[in-house]
Amino acid sequence: MTTEELLALGLRVDVDGAVATITLDRPEVRNAQTPQMWRALASVGETLPEDVQVVVVQGAGDTFSSGLDRRMLDPRGTGDDQETVVGLLQRSDEVISATIDDYQKGFTFLRDPRFVSIAKVRGHAVGAGFQLALSCDIRIVADDVKFSMKESALGLVPDLTGTKPLVEAVGYSRALEICATARTVGAEESVRIGLALSAHPGDELDDVVKTLVESLTAPMPGVVSETKKLLQGANDRDLDEQRRLEREAQTRRFRAVAAALGG
Ligand code: CAA
Repeated sequence: MTTEELLALGLRVDVDGAVATITLDRPEVRNAQTPQMWRALASVGETLPEDVQVVVVQGAGDTFSSGLDRRMLDPRGTGDDQETVVGLLQRSDEVISATIDDYQKGFTFLRDPRFVSIAKVRGHAVGAGFQLALSCDIRIVADDVKFSMKESALGLVPDLTGTKPLVEAVGYSRALEICATARTVGAEESVRIGLALSAHPGDELDDVVKTLVESLTAPMPGVVSETKKLLQGANDRDLDEQRRLEREAQTRRFRAVAAALGG
């Protein structure tokens, strides 16, 4: 998609060498998300250059994202031809499921082992916004962060791939409580329960993320991605399977290091 097409959907994508920055850019509606935006995010994920090693996801202005654009739930539609979530009601269960599968691809690409994804989160991360942050490998937050999984308050469940990483981050019991009550999780708690890696004063957040990005891009190309592949899903594998993957990864690394040294 062209820069103009992305901008029209409220997305900015800046690629600078090994670092891609994706900005939700609809500050006038607190970076509310639309189905078109999710489809565009999926397309961005498919077309990121091969040498991108880190992807930073952020929101324009003081808030990460207010979640689903509420116009998408208005039975009267949006007044134009825009795809809405409520429009799905007229479809069969199979079509609804296939459509949500497409939406989810706007989130799942952030788990690609090719790069490390970082959510830089200020202010509110509501519903789909919370789930977008959860799709990233690492969340670094400002002191004013407010995570809330608002879906249950609307009679819905979180369906944009956030439930698995939430359980992995905070455990089943806490995840259930956060989703079912739709309550807000602030900065101190988010770090304490493992939802965020660290919290910082708002005016320091950019520098903290920049330093982390520099550290992640410092090692030899390939090694961080190989490490991510190894750690991703480690909980779901038994020890024998995990140590086999370690051996295989290390063999590839030995050869890559030797090749780099001219061996
Ligand atoms: N969709 C559309 N417009 C939104 C919006 C949203 N999700 N969130 C905020 N806006 C608009 C407001 O209508 C307002 O517009 P006007 O200036 O024209 O009045 C503008 O953005 C600013 O909003 P606030 O004054 O409320 O901003 P705030 O900074 O005081 O509060 C907020 C921010 C806490 C995020 C609050 O706006 C809010 O609660 N928004 C709704 C959040 C919500 O319910 N999202 C849906 C969650 S469910 C989901 O995401 C998953 C799913 O797929 C179902």
